[in-house]
Order: sequence, then structure tokens, then C-alpha cells
Amino acid sequence: MKSEADARFEEHFGVPPRWRSRAPGRVNLIGEHVDYMGGLVLPAAVDRFISLSGAPARGWELVSEVEGGESYLRAIAAELGAGPQRVAAASTLPAGFGMSSSAALLVAAAAGLEPELGGREAALACQRAEQKATGVMVGVMDQFASALGREGHAILLDCATLDFRYLPFPSGMLIVVIDSGVRRELSETPYNQRRQEAEAGMPKRVRHVETEIRRVRDFTVALEAADGDRCGELLKESHRSLRDDFEVSTPEVDAIVERAWAIPGCFGARIMGAGFGGSILALVERGSEAAFEAAIGAPAVVCATADGAFVG
Ligand code: GLA
Repeated sequence: MKSEADARFEEHFGVPPRWRSRAPGRVNLIGEHVDYMGGLVLPAAVDRFISLSGAPARGWELVSEVEGGESYLRAIAAELGAGPQRVAAASTLPAGFGMSSSAALLVAAAAGLEPELGGREAALACQRAEQKATGVMVGVMDQFASALGREGHAILLDCATLDFRYLPFPSGMLIVVIDSGVRRELSETPYNQRRQEAEAGMPKRVRHVETEIRRVRDFTVALEAADGDRCGELLKESHRSLRDDFEVSTPEVDAIVERAWAIPGCFGARIMGAGFGGSILALVERGSEAAFEAAIGAPAVVCATADGAFVG
């Protein structure tokens, strides 16, 4: 069967595409606002994807329900030295859920334009493209997870060296992403300001970075022991640190996080990604997800881990 992106491409351009690709969104289990500080992060690629079908063209054209995508495509093509393309996109990544649809779009484009590229190089090119397209000095975590995540695993990444290793994700735990409903473009948030404050050594910001990196190490041990309760405690500590020391949470997000903490079968939850609204990650005991979704009172999706675009 023809993919949705292929069908869209042929419908708009009247010819079949020359390349196709797909890249996953990501969650981050723990290690927030530490990637650009050279810290440790523990994301996973998840089973929601952006698919692209494309072909070289005289000028840029993007057919997509994802807004603003063309500036990303132009930026990644420039990084890879590729010319203009006609591209059709299709997505199963829920819009606005904070699962890095921009990184998925960039990584999918890199995989379509240069499938032979190494995953690390692709992630770095996508990071530069995102920084140039938006002016937000993002770290490499999201692009790395979308490029090199692995089904059944989380990826423990040292952002200083780009060394990484895969950790099996325990079968008894489920990843749930909750939408706070608070929408924002990163370029409109104090993301760059927080980064500068951390780099300049502001004590509260540095305390978050140092304690968060310690939590990533502790979480790694707990995940390897499939100790959901310990993982949950660390998520709660991470949330408090992001709320009080890094100051990237909002009252709406805090309310949902605290509601999640109280639901039976929820090991823990915290604000996920850049913050300032966006999404919440919860780890839930397998079997408790339906009750959790019913109790949380906000849109939620259960995700499974998936392969990155440059894996396999
Ligand atoms: C966004 C950025 C990442 C990272 C997170 C916070 O998702 O794209 O590089 O900094 O925020 O951990």
C-alpha cells in the first residue's frame, strides 16, 4: 500500500517521489536542560513518526499539515549541501505534544537526502539546522534520539563526547505523554536565557544541572534494575528541580504533574522537554494505563520505544 506521504506527493506533483524517509519523535526519561551543558541525558525514540516523500526540484515546495516546516527543510538541506526539493509530509506525531516534531522532521529530511550519513553526523547537522532555522540554541538530545534511538531501549547519551549506550526499557513500565495544553514556540520562551544563565554560573541554574546529571546516573541504575518506584522518585525530584531551580515549569503543568503523582500505578511524572508549558512525562505500571488516562483529565498518549531513522 502507498504511504500517506507518497499519496500526497503524487496527488500534488503528479509524479512519484524519488526518495522517502521516516523519523520518530522522542521522549526524554530524565536529564533535562543539561544537554547543552555537556551533561548526560536519557531519551528514547517513540512510535510516532514524521514520514517524508521527496524529489529534487527547481524550487522549494512542501505539502504538509505541519506548519513552518519549510524553513527547517531549507536549513537541513543547506547543512548537507543539497539543492531545493519538493516534499510531502505525513505525521502520526500528535501536534503540540512536545515530542520533538521539529527534530523528527529534520532527521527524516537528513535520512531522505543522505541515507548513508552516520547517525551522529546527522544529529549534529540537524542540531545546527534547528539553531539556524529558529535562533534557539538547542542541544543535540532530540535530534540524536530521533536518529539513533532503538526499539526496546532508552539511549544514555553523554552530550560532551557523544558516546552513548542503549539501556533495555523494562517491560513492566509504560511511557505516557500528557499534553498540558499550554502551547509555545521555543523562540518565544526564555530558553536561550536559561542556557546563558547556566553557562554564566548562576547558582540555582548550576544546582539544577549538577543535581540533574546525578539523577540521570541514579535513574540509569534504577532502570537497569527495573525499579519503577526509584525511577518515579527521581522523576519527582527532577520536576522539583526544574520548577524551583531552573524555573521552566508553569502552574498548569505543576497541577497536572501533582495529579499524576497521586494516581495509583503511576511511578512518577515530571515536566518534559524545554518546558514553559508543553508536555509531561509519566511512567506508569503496565496494566494501570487505562485507569491513569481516565484519571489524569488531560489528553494523554501511551508510547512504545522505536528505532531511530539511522538505525537498522
Ligand atoms: C529542547 C531542546 C533540547 C533540550 C531540551 C531540554 O527539547 O531541543 O536540546 O535542551 O529542550 O532538556
